Amino acid sequence: MTNEFLWGGALAAHQFEGGWNAGGKGPSVIDVMTAGAHGVPREITETIEANKFYPNHEAIDFYHHYKKDVALFAEMGLKCLRTSIAWTRIFPLGDEETPNEAGLKFYDDLFDELLSYNIEPVITLSHFEMPLHLAREYGGFRNRKVIDFFEKFALTVFERYKNKVKYWMTFNEINNQMDVNNPIFLWTNSGVKVSEGEDAKEVMYQVAHNELVASAKAVIAGKKINPDFQIGCMVSHVPIYPYSCNPADIMAAEEAMHQRFFFADVHVRGYYPRYALKEFERAGYSLDIREEDLAVLAEGTVDYIGLSYYMSTVVKSDVEVNYSGDVVNGGLPNGVENPYIQSSDWGWAIDPEGLRYTLNRLYDRYQIPLFIVENGFGAIDVLEENHQVHDQNRIDYLTKHIKEMQKAMDHDGVELLGYTPWGIIDVVSFTTGEMKKRYGMIYVDRDNEGQGTMKRYKKDSFAWYQTVIKTNGQQL
Ligand code: BG6
Repeated sequence: MTNEFLWGGALAAHQFEGGWNAGGKGPSVIDVMTAGAHGVPREITETIEANKFYPNHEAIDFYHHYKKDVALFAEMGLKCLRTSIAWTRIFPLGDEETPNEAGLKFYDDLFDELLSYNIEPVITLSHFEMPLHLAREYGGFRNRKVIDFFEKFALTVFERYKNKVKYWMTFNEINNQMDVNNPIFLWTNSGVKVSEGEDAKEVMYQVAHNELVASAKAVIAGKKINPDFQIGCMVSHVPIYPYSCNPADIMAAEEAMHQRFFFADVHVRGYYPRYALKEFERAGYSLDIREEDLAVLAEGTVDYIGLSYYMSTVVKSDVEVNYSGDVVNGGLPNGVENPYIQSSDWGWAIDPEGLRYTLNRLYDRYQIPLFIVENGFGAIDVLEENHQVHDQNRIDYLTKHIKEMQKAMDHDGVELLGYTPWGIIDVVSFTTGEMKKRYGMIYVDRDNEGQGTMKRYKKDSFAWYQTVIKTNGQQL
C-alpha cells in the first residue's frame, strides 16, 4: 500500500448538508421524500407538504457547521473526503441559463477549507440530487434535454473547481435503478416515475441510456477542461453468489450478475454488452439509441470505477420468492439467505470476503483502477452519559473489510486508489430516511423525528480510524 493511498470518508450532499433552501438552493427529488423505516418505504410526495417530515431538509446541518466538521475530519487524519455537489445549489431549477453564485461559493469555501488541511475533495456530480423541476416538468432522464442540462451543470463545476478537484464521479450507484420493483431507485437516480401500463424495465433501459450518454459527455468535456482530471463512474456492487455447485445455480448467478455489470460495462468499455442487446431483442424493446450516442459512449469512457460495497446476495435456481421491493435481497426474484453469514439489524448481509471477491471480479473484467468509495456498517449507536459511543461492532466490521481489501491489493494485485467508508459522520439514511441507522465515526445528536442538539461526539471508531490512517493500514 503506497503513501498515496487515499484513506478518507464518504458523504453525499443531500444526506448531511441540510440548508435545503439556503443560499438560493432549489428543491431536489430527495426533498420530497419523507422518512420511512426498515420495511416501511419512504413516501415521495407531490409537493412539500407542511404536515410531513422531510429528514433531508435539515439533515445534520453541515451547511452551517462545516468548518467545525472539517476540523474533526482533519483531526481524524482523512486524506480525502468524498462528497457530492448538490445540483440544485448550482442550478436551483436545473434549466437556468446562469448558475447560482451563492451555491458555487459554498463549494469554493468548502473545498478551500478541506485543502487547507490537505484533505483532497473527491466529488460525485449527481448523488440522488436531481432538481425537482427537471423531474416534474421534463420527466427526468426520460427526456434528452436533461442530458444537456446535466452536461451544463458538469461543465460549470468542472470549470469552477478545475484547480481544486482532481477525482470526480458522474452518477452515484447508477445501477440501483436496475431494481425496477422498488420505485425509489428510478426516482432518486433519474427523476422518473413509471406509469400504469408501462414496461418498467423498458423505461429503465431508456433512462439508463440517456444517463450513460450524459455521463460520457461529462467525461469528454471534463478532459478538455483539465486533462489531469480522473473521472470515474460509480456503481453499487452487490455480488450474487450461486446457492450451490449445482450448475443450474451457477448459471442463475452468472446470468443475474449481468444486471450488476451492465452499467460498468458501458461506462468502461464504451459500448453495449451483447447480453444486453440480446435482452432488448428478446423483450422487443424499442429504445431511442442513436448513432451519435454510440460515438459519445465510445469516446467518454471512465478512468476508474468507484464502487460501494456493503453486502452480498445469493440466488437459487429452483425457487421463486415473491419479491416485495425490499433492498435486502438486491432485487432478485430468486434471492435466498446465505446460511454462512450474518446480517445487520437492517438485514444487510455482513460478508467481508465478498469485498475481496468483488474487487477481483471487477478488476479481472476491466483492468482499470478501482476506488472503494463506500463501505460501512449501519447500526444503532448508544450515546452514553459521558458522551462516549462504544461502537466496537463497527470497528470489527471495518477491520474485517479492510483486511480483505488489503489481500486483494497485496495478494491479488488489484489496483486500488483509496478507501472511503460511508458516513464518516452520522447522516440521514438514504433508503429509510432514518437517523438511527448510523454509520459515522462521529455521533450527531439528532433523532428520527428531527429532535436533538446537533452536537457532535467522537465514537470509539474515531480514534481507531485515526490510527489506521496514521499507520497506512498496518495497525487495525
Ligand atoms: C448507498 C448510497 O446506497 O448506500 C448512500 O450511495 C447510502 O447514499 C448508503 O446512504 C447506505 O444506505 P442507507 O440506506 O443505509 O443509508
